Amino acid sequence: MIEIDNVYKSFGALEVIKGVSLTVNKGEVVSIIGGSGSGKSTLLMCINGLESINSGSIRVDGTEVHAPGTNINKLRQKIGIVFQQWNAFPHLTVLENVMLAPRKVLGLSKQDAEAMAVKQLTHVGLADKLKVFPGKLSGGQQQRMAIARALAMSPDYMLFDEATSALDPQLVGEVLDTMRLLAEDGMTMVLVTHEIRFARDVSDRVAFFRNGLVHEIGTPEQVIGNPQQPETIDFLKSIN
Ligand SMILES: Nc1ncnc2c1ncn2[C@@H]1O[C@H](COP(=O)(O)OP(=O)(O)OP(=O)(O)O)[C@@H](O)[C@H]1O
Ligand SMILES: [Mg+2]
Repeated sequence: MIEIDNVYKSFGALEVIKGVSLTVNKGEVVSIIGGSGSGKSTLLMCINGLESINSGSIRVDGTEVHAPGTNINKLRQKIGIVFQQWNAFPHLTVLENVMLAPRKVLGLSKQDAEAMAVKQLTHVGLADKLKVFPGKLSGGQQQRMAIARALAMSPDYMLFDEATSALDPQLVGEVLDTMRLLAEDGMTMVLVTHEIRFARDVSDRVAFFRNGLVHEIGTPEQVIGNPQQPETIDFLKSIN
């Protein structure tokens, strides 16, 4: 489980996370919604140690992410992350791109890495694109490749940062469907998304971020269906 306890994070003089506490339980799907600059991406980066924190703590399965003695590379193997866009290696096929980290980081044999990559690419509906170069994929297919790449590391957690927001509208659905499947499979997920209907459908809880704080949190029915805070209401109005 992910335990975020009273985390503060500044970039220079700019304080962007101002005391966030949030626990994500095993198998839970938590969506983070909120306006631009509210600190959503920064929090995800802090969870997998890509960003430092100023105070507080983040623990993943009991291991403190930012403690000096923590083997951050090992911890990160448990945490897959999918961004808006992932720049695949253009000279490697889809299959080779997905095999890379399992080979290099996990030390799998070529055969095992390939089996894992084929399995995950099949899982995201790209079984027919193994030998294709990434440049030939649609945006939605590229994002599904990015998800397969993360899954090939057998993560216990998946973080998504607006995985669909760089896509043409007609491609959004296929990526959301892939994420939905993962959620239904019981993957523990934290997703930053502007797709409110999707967040409502797949999440166990929704957190509305504002000014570096969890401003309102609860079930989708509560936060999206019946928000209590005026700022949450305004935000939901603004994106509909
Ligand atoms: N590496 C950085 N250096 C300096 N400031 C940063 C850095 N990363 C983010 N910020 C600032 O921190 C604040 C929070 O940024 P963050 O990317 O977490 O917001 P967000 O909620 O993800 O917004 P969006 O919805 O636009 O993606 C913003 O004011 C941003 O400019
Ligand atoms: Mg962001």
